[in-house]
Amino acid sequence: MATYRDDFYRLPALYDLEYAQHTEDLAFYGELAQKAGRVLELGAGTGRVTQTMVNAGATVEAIDLSQPMLDRLSERFASQGQAHRVTARLGSFIELPQGPEMPLVVLPFNTIHHVYSGRDVLRVFEQVQARLAPEGCFAMDMLIPDPAFFERDPDGVHELRHFPDPDGGTLKTWENGWYDPITQINHVRYHYLRANGARQLVQVPMRMFYPAEFLDLVQQAGWKMLRCDSDFSGTPLAADAHKLILVLRK
Ligand SMILES: C[S@@+](CC[C@H](N)C(=O)[O-])C[C@H]1O[C@@H](n2cnc3c(N)ncnc32)[C@H](O)[C@@H]1O
Repeated sequence: MATYRDDFYRLPALYDLEYAQHTEDLAFYGELAQKAGRVLELGAGTGRVTQTMVNAGATVEAIDLSQPMLDRLSERFASQGQAHRVTARLGSFIELPQGPEMPLVVLPFNTIHHVYSGRDVLRVFEQVQARLAPEGCFAMDMLIPDPAFFERDPDGVHELRHFPDPDGGTLKTWENGWYDPITQINHVRYHYLRANGARQLVQVPMRMFYPAEFLDLVQQAGWKMLRCDSDFSGTPLAADAHKLILVLRK
């Protein structure tokens, strides 16, 4: 079984460069946070979604396994004079640290793919349920395996993108990798070519879950399903979906 690698999350500045423009999920999590007022965010990273939830008026307990990502999150809110709105905690959502009951727990941006077995997904669900208030909600999103994606050339250049290099010039990034249909691990490799010619390779094993398999785990954990959609604007799950977005109540 593949195990977690945190390579990608040792480079928070690169993470922010790549995902600053990823905004499709922000209104969804922002609206939930606005209603709830207090949020436990799992895998908060550098605070991309946290920022929207704070802007919506919520206070956030932000858990992450990566100290560099959390440091950047803390710097972000300190520089805005908003440090009092966010509690950054180093820890794993597979063994959540104790804390107060929350009206909302979120696990955004495909972060569930860092959980490698159904048994550990059930552990995450159990931990979340222990921290959720009785009428509280758990919201998360994940990718649905796409056969076309897995048939890509493992050594090809896919999703080539250019960013301004923080040190000047242009930073090129692309991805490739391979999918193991036995373990359902998508072994993603991110390649970076800095303006000064330096190269970096970052590997991220992502455990993929098929919808029926994942919804079975949802059922086993006893969740009540409030939403089961294929996008953030509420399109119900259908055969051509690439995403699964869930809002659950215990
Ligand atoms: C895809 S990033 C999402 C970051 C942020 N929520 C966003 O939307 O930009 C996944 C984050 O989950 C964290 N992570 C991975 N496994 C974790 C675990 N078991 N417990 C807590 N955080 C974890 C990583 O360090 C990383 O910051």
